[in-house]
Amino acid sequence: MHNQWIVKPNAEEVATAACEWLVESVQEALRERGKCSIALSGGSTPRRLFQLIAENELHCVDWSRVTLLWGDERNVPHDHPDSNYRMVREAWLDRAIATNEPRCIPRVCPVDIQVTAPDRAAFDYEQVICRELDFTLSSDDPDALPVLDIVLLGLGDDAHTASLFPETEAVTVADRLFVANYVPKFAAHRMTMTALLINAARQVAFLVCGASKTAAVDLVLHGPKQPLKYPAQLIQPRRGQLWWFLDTAAMPSR
Ligand code: 6PG
Repeated sequence: MHNQWIVKPNAEEVATAACEWLVESVQEALRERGKCSIALSGGSTPRRLFQLIAENELHCVDWSRVTLLWGDERNVPHDHPDSNYRMVREAWLDRAIATNEPRCIPRVCPVDIQVTAPDRAAFDYEQVICRELDFTLSSDDPDALPVLDIVLLGLGDDAHTASLFPETEAVTVADRLFVANYVPKFAAHRMTMTALLINAARQVAFLVCGASKTAAVDLVLHGPKQPLKYPAQLIQPRRGQLWWFLDTAAMPSR
């Protein structure tokens, strides 16, 4: 399938467009399959999207049939300022929980962080992903994978996505769904879904804003195919649809 492009003048309008798309995609999944799974991205860009859901969309969807997973997470406790889970709680979930209406509250499955045992935590989260997606490995179809309905992704100015950072081990992993990835530039582990799992999803959406990302977007789209250097190039859904939500500042000129 060809990429779908949504380009807006500014980050606020990108978040608004992405929110409309996300709600429509969730409603479609609920109509077709009675449930929906979303892998959330971290960092700062998606915060406004999550705030818009909390402000405008809590009653537009039966969120109790929606499972939230994390596409990546920092190797820190959930109450740490860097926690992607904490960002989603503050931007969205606390307001949903405050409604005290089960229909407004998604099923939330954060990574159970074990700071001193990241590999263990990653292995455990793989089991969570398989459980939540009703997936069991079967010998008769060794290529089968759990299928997420929606994956949200950001893009770093170094062309990383999720926590698939340039020249790191997780970029080349082809037999895992979720791993602990040591990132030298942080001298720390990050927890991340692999490209294998992301590419099995039905819908994958990059949300990218700001002039600092233009060069990375250009490299991912038009640069030499070198996914170890530009990991976001790995994101090519096998059967799903890839969306790019960009503001004009992040849009390459060519
Ligand atoms: C994270 C992310 C990461 C993020 C990009 C963009 O945990 O940081 O998942 O991949 O999406 O680094 O981050 P910004 O949105 O803050 O620019």
